[in-house]
Amino acid sequence: MEFGANERVFVLTGAGISAESGLATFRGSGGLWNGYRVEQVATPEAWETDPALVWNFYSMRRKDAMAAEPNAAHRALARLEERLGERMFLCTQNVDDLHERGGSQRVHHMHGTLFQSRCVRCERPFDDRTVYDAELPVCAECGAAVRPHIVWFGEMPLDMEGIYRELERATHLLVIGTSGAVYPAAGFVEIAKRRGAKTIYVGPEEPLNRSKFDELVLGTAVEVMPGLIP
Ligand code: OAD
Repeated sequence: MEFGANERVFVLTGAGISAESGLATFRGSGGLWNGYRVEQVATPEAWETDPALVWNFYSMRRKDAMAAEPNAAHRALARLEERLGERMFLCTQNVDDLHERGGSQRVHHMHGTLFQSRCVRCERPFDDRTVYDAELPVCAECGAAVRPHIVWFGEMPLDMEGIYRELERATHLLVIGTSGAVYPAAGFVEIAKRRGAKTIYVGPEEPLNRSKFDELVLGTAVEVMPGLIP
């Protein structure tokens, strides 16, 4: 893919880009974890009723993400950023850190990140790679509970204002490995298309919002991305 000096690329990634790094996608695992539906562990209601279960889930995911390595698709996006600088906006729904470890400097984690936690009272996120087993964390300042810095179902994704600003001025939207099932991210393609952007999807199967894409490149992220961004 080549871009002119006035073109801007908005990249949206989902669980599919990390699949070949060994991290299961949501729909691929049937939306299940240890027999629980993801909605049973990734919601404010789950946190209210069983914080230990929620921490158990995110502790496992921390472990899995720490053991995973970025793949050729993550690295291809890092190359694109080297070329385009601030004319590329990388927005991911993923909470792993494989984009950063693949070389991307600026990553917008709209659903939060696995390696931060925050006090439910002070609200300020802090770096945290701890795998919590029996004892649940409390805030060193105020003693309130500490939760994962993750956007759960029913919560507002992070910095939607910045995201919409970038979507409005993008000339290209490149979407990789997301099923198009979860809003607001699934609606980005419609916004970009309305503004006249060229819209491209990369993944092994058609997403649910496929009709909004100008181009579908069917294949896995690792098969397709290095060819698209050599
Ligand atoms: P999904 O699990 O819904 O979709 C994964 C997508 O990746 C599917 O469309 C697959 O076809 C595609 N895929 C699978 N293997 C791939 C590969 N090797 N290369 C490229 N694509 C591949 O995951 P998301 O769409 O990311 O939200 O899910 C969106 C949100 O729903 C998540 O961020 C999470 C979840 O519930 C929250 O936790 C708030």
